[in-house]
Amino acid sequence: MHNESQWKSSLGFILASAGSAIGLGAMWKFPYMAGIYGGGAFLLMFLIFTLFVGLPLLMMEFTVGKMGKTYTTKIYEKLTNRKWLNIIGWNGNLAVFILFGFYSVIGGWIIIYIFNVLLQICSFNGGKLSQIEFESIISNPWLTVTGQGIFILLTMFIVMMGVEKGLEKASKFMMPLLFIFLIIIVVKSLTLDGSFEGLKYILQPRLEDISIEGILFALGQSFFTLSLGTTGMITYASYASKEMTIKTSAVSIVAMNILVSVLAGLAIFPAISAFGYSPTEGPGLLFKVLPKVFDQMAYGSGFYFIFLILFLFAALTSSISLLELNVSNFTKNDNSKRKSVSLYISVLVFMISIPATLSFGSLSHVKFAAGTIFDNMDFLVSNILMPIGALGTTLVVGQLLDKHALKEHFGKDKFRLFMPWYYLIKFILPVVIILIFVVQFL
Ligand code: TRP
Repeated sequence: MHNESQWKSSLGFILASAGSAIGLGAMWKFPYMAGIYGGGAFLLMFLIFTLFVGLPLLMMEFTVGKMGKTYTTKIYEKLTNRKWLNIIGWNGNLAVFILFGFYSVIGGWIIIYIFNVLLQICSFNGGKLSQIEFESIISNPWLTVTGQGIFILLTMFIVMMGVEKGLEKASKFMMPLLFIFLIIIVVKSLTLDGSFEGLKYILQPRLEDISIEGILFALGQSFFTLSLGTTGMITYASYASKEMTIKTSAVSIVAMNILVSVLAGLAIFPAISAFGYSPTEGPGLLFKVLPKVFDQMAYGSGFYFIFLILFLFAALTSSISLLELNVSNFTKNDNSKRKSVSLYISVLVFMISIPATLSFGSLSHVKFAAGTIFDNMDFLVSNILMPIGALGTTLVVGQLLDKHALKEHFGKDKFRLFMPWYYLIKFILPVVIILIFVVQFL
């Protein structure tokens, strides 16, 4: 795949990498994290981190991919002649492997909801969507393990068949449609009685709600939504053509991610106060609140069904790139091994995803460090492996790569952004990442 550019235009590149980056992070994780860590205060910190840390790091990952043009467990060696630095690529590989494990839990929930809504539509009994009981679904081991199994199988087949291209084409209309749906939900949510409290909660930053923990999780959230430190975005840029513009692409992806996160917040929080939920519901927040909103709409079940399909699609465009990253690193882009490697990795992912699923049921009492098994997997990825990966890459780019070569790949520099960006990567961001990283263990 590497000698030819996969995307002819910059727009093609942006759409494909946006499909990979925008997924459960913005729509499912952002609202529940914001709910726990202070609403508006969390949103503010998330915005600051995304703009001042995430955006420059995304530009950095794009530059590395564009310069190195190979799979990510080789790219560091290729750029620096130091083999041991490939460890940064392996760190990313481990991160996406675990990430896929807990991502599939939520992917599985979406699939289970799709079946439930379909059953309800077909039974014509006029039942309400909110009768779908979240707690009894997620604590049912057979159901949830089957759901995540289906999600992993779907991902695996797409990667095995190499039909990601088709999916990317489909995402050209599926993603805008998802946007439109989000806006419809926001409008409905804002017109509910009692929605103002929730709106205020997510939009008004109250300084007393800012905590060290909140700061850490807001940074983790920026890393998660932008796929930073996992080498995912490096891989995408390594496939891109020369015309790919680093700044425009990075700004577009950051903007889309912020937009989807904010829309998800505006969809969920007004409904939380209108229906009397607590913002601190945790990972189930979206699944508990949205059915209630759709219940208030004419043809709500039908709309909810379409929304879930679009949501599943957004999750799949991310999970295929999670699996693809592992596959490309283990096959070293030798396509004859593609099918068997996809299968092995998927089986392993399925195995590690089972305890993550069960941590919402029979293993819910198993708690250590960051909480349940699921919480710990997320914490390990978002707050440890991703920052380590990003830190490693800032050190390589800032200390080892040639400034002029970087400048050349950075592209035309109408706004003279290169120097401030370079100094940020060289001196400031490594210190910021180390500081925040260390603080969580104090
Ligand atoms: N950004 C993705 C999301 O928000 C998750 C993610 C993190 C990811 N790293 C990745 C997806 C690497 C693909 C590849 O849902």
